Amino acid sequence: VRGRAAGGPVLAVDQGTSGTKALVVCPERGVIGTGEAAVHPRYLPGGRVEVAPAELYASVVEAGRKALAAAGEPVAAVGLANQGETVLAWDPATGEPHTEALVWQDRRAGALCEELRAHAEQLSHLTGLPLDPYFAAPKMAWIRRHLTRVGVVTTSDAWLVHRLTGAFVTDTATAGRTQLLDLDRGAWSPAALDVFGLGDERLPDVVDSDVCVGTTRAFGPGIPLTGLLVDQQAALFAQGATEAGAVKCTYGTGAFLLAQAGGRPVRPSSGLVGCVAWRLRRRTSYCLDGQVYTAASAVRWLTDLGVIAGAHDLDRVGGSVPDSGGVTFVPALAGLAAPWWRSDARGSLTGLGLDTGAGHLVRALCEGIAAQVAELVDAVGEDLGARPAVLRVDGGLTRSALLMQAQADLLQLPVEVAEMPDATARGVAAVARLGLDARLDVTDVVPVHRASAVYEPRIGQGEARERRERFRDAVG
Ligand code: G3P
Repeated sequence: VRGRAAGGPVLAVDQGTSGTKALVVCPERGVIGTGEAAVHPRYLPGGRVEVAPAELYASVVEAGRKALAAAGEPVAAVGLANQGETVLAWDPATGEPHTEALVWQDRRAGALCEELRAHAEQLSHLTGLPLDPYFAAPKMAWIRRHLTRVGVVTTSDAWLVHRLTGAFVTDTATAGRTQLLDLDRGAWSPAALDVFGLGDERLPDVVDSDVCVGTTRAFGPGIPLTGLLVDQQAALFAQGATEAGAVKCTYGTGAFLLAQAGGRPVRPSSGLVGCVAWRLRRRTSYCLDGQVYTAASAVRWLTDLGVIAGAHDLDRVGGSVPDSGGVTFVPALAGLAAPWWRSDARGSLTGLGLDTGAGHLVRALCEGIAAQVAELVDAVGEDLGARPAVLRVDGGLTRSALLMQAQADLLQLPVEVAEMPDATARGVAAVARLGLDARLDVTDVVPVHRASAVYEPRIGQGEARERRERFRDAVG
């Protein structure tokens, strides 16, 4: 394996909320094969969002095999990125799921979080995370109370890795999304487990991101699985954000802003999350993290209503009018995360008139997403002591010039769109390469950041301030 590592391609699989993407990445030739497979989360009443575990696994296998077929050559290793806070119960003997997977957007554990509110400060000190149904532990506790007491209950990565290799592990950064990981020690916290009533659970071993956890035959002959990382952190790595202060935002199903915080854990005071970025070469990096729960899923919502034909239509429809016509959209269709942490918040549209058209709604949506991201960037500035000078962005929605321009305008900062699409998969490919070849250092594999487009602010500071104030008022 070592011999092939120097120049050999690796297979990187990004198992996301609405689909799985796979790339075969070669150190010299870049991406030589790609594959995709859709998954179909179900949006149910009461803020419930579920997906069939079997569909997640099938999509990993399908996307991976397609990418390998397109590349037409063998790979030396596999890396897997995961959704983070999506959980399920399953049988560790057979790998059979006992429940559907509760997707990270699922809000059903909101009441359970309210019950535990007295422990919020303790939990936030232990784990860096505020108490919110977004994270894995409240959903794990909900499953234990309402669905099943048998088997194990874990994040989706642990189940997928078990299906792929038989190992029972999760990486430090994914474990850090549960609210059960002691942020300072990088190990499960007995105190946090007790708060959630999960003290007796059998939990996966917490491993570094760049270790070989086993061999998978899911894609043909056995291939070592040498890279595991939660998706947002993988995108941060792919954006070359290894220096403290570097910030990226990925616009996928949700929009996720992460800032590299360096080698010491940070406990934010601004309402952001302080968590593990990755553990590579036995060293832990930390980051700050802020979330917009609905980005592409708000676009899908507008699409389902018939306002647009899909994400590709945002710029055409939004471009038909010069501005949002006074309409403000708070696209909190699955609650509000940092810095507000109101899982019970719902979306709102204000300022509607008889002259409001589809174009105004689209512009208001883009501004609503961009305004939330701008709040997160300001919060990073507060916690790290300096506002970032630039925002690096990736993800499907960065194809919308309308959204990217709105982002630069409201931030009053340049927005640099990553040249590499699929940053998450590129990040976990780099990690898998590290896991494969002990001779490599982090600096040997971290992708070089290049921008394919840069959006500069086109409105003045006064107007940006006014628009953001209007958005804050609507949130209030
Ligand atoms: O925290 C959830 C997030 O990481 C999911 O990302 O790409 O599946 O929308 P994505």
